[in-house]
Amino acid sequence: MQAKHLLGLAELSAADIEEILNNAVPMKQVISRDIKKVPTLRGKSVVMLFYEPSTRTRVSFELAGKYLSADTVNVTTGLSSVSKGESLFDTAKTVQALGADLVVLRHPSAGASHLLARLIDVPVVNAGDGMHEHPTQALLDLFTIRERKGSIKGGKVVIIGDVLHSRVARSNIWALTRFGADLHLVAPPTLLPAGIEQTGVTVHHRPEEALVDSDVVMVLRLQRERQRQGLIPGVEEYAKLYGLNAERLNLARPDAVVMHPGPINRGVEIADEVADGTRAVITDQVTNGVAVRMAVLYLLALGRMN
Ligand code: CP
Repeated sequence: MQAKHLLGLAELSAADIEEILNNAVPMKQVISRDIKKVPTLRGKSVVMLFYEPSTRTRVSFELAGKYLSADTVNVTTGLSSVSKGESLFDTAKTVQALGADLVVLRHPSAGASHLLARLIDVPVVNAGDGMHEHPTQALLDLFTIRERKGSIKGGKVVIIGDVLHSRVARSNIWALTRFGADLHLVAPPTLLPAGIEQTGVTVHHRPEEALVDSDVVMVLRLQRERQRQGLIPGVEEYAKLYGLNAERLNLARPDAVVMHPGPINRGVEIADEVADGTRAVITDQVTNGVAVRMAVLYLLALGRMN
C-alpha cells in the first residue's frame, strides 16, 4: 500500500485493505497472550487528538500503541489548549514539534483528518470525522466477519439503522462492496442519504423484507445527538418499526451474526435479548479493534504500507 495516511476506505484498494487485515492476524495472537507486549514501535510516539467523545476507539488505539511499545499520549479537548481557542492547525503544528511520529484524530467535522494530513509531515489516522468515515471501525468489522464467516464475498450483509448520520456505514459500504458482499441497507427514508442506491447496495424501508436469509446483521446506533428535528416521529416508534428484536432476527440465517459498532442504545435500535444473545459478536468487534489498530499503527509508523 502506497498510502502514508489512513484517512478513509474510499481511497484504499481491496489489496490495501487485505494488507491491513493480514497484519492484524499476528497482532491478534499478541493480544491473546498473557504478556501482550512486543517491541515493534519502541521509540515511536503516538498522539491521539480527540475532539469528540470516544470509549472504544480511543482506548483501543491507546492499548494498541502500548502493546507495540510505542509511547502514547491522549489529548482531549477539555483538558488541552483547544478549550482556549487553539485551532486544529496550531494544535497540529504543536504536536508535530513535540515529536509525534503518528497522529490519530477524531473530529466532528468531515474532512478534518484530510486537512490535518496536509498540515503536518507525520502519518495521520482518521478515528472518525463527522458523518464522513470511520475507517478503522470498518476494518475491524471486516476482520470480524472474516473470522466468523471465512469470507465476505457473496455473503448477505444487512446494515440496519441511522445510515444518514453514520460514518461507520459509509466506511463499511465502501469496504463491503469492494469485497463482493451482497449489501442491503434498511432505514426510514429520512435516515438514508440521497442517491445511496448508486453505490450498488439494495435499499429497504422494512427490516422484515431485508433480514430474510441474511448472514450478517449490522445494527447502527440511532444518533440522537446528530438528529435534526422531525427525521423520525419518535424514539419509541423507531424502536417498534426498526429495532432488532429476537422475532426479527429469526428471519436471518440460523448462523447469522449480529454486529454493532457501539455505543448501544438498548431497547432502541437493538433489544437486550439480541445484544446479549449467542449470535451477537459485539465484544469480539471490540477485541478485534485492538488487533486491527495495532496493524494500522505498525504499517504507518514504520512506513511499511506496500
Ligand atoms: N465505535 C466507536 O467509534 O465507538 P466510540 O465512539 O466509543 O469510539
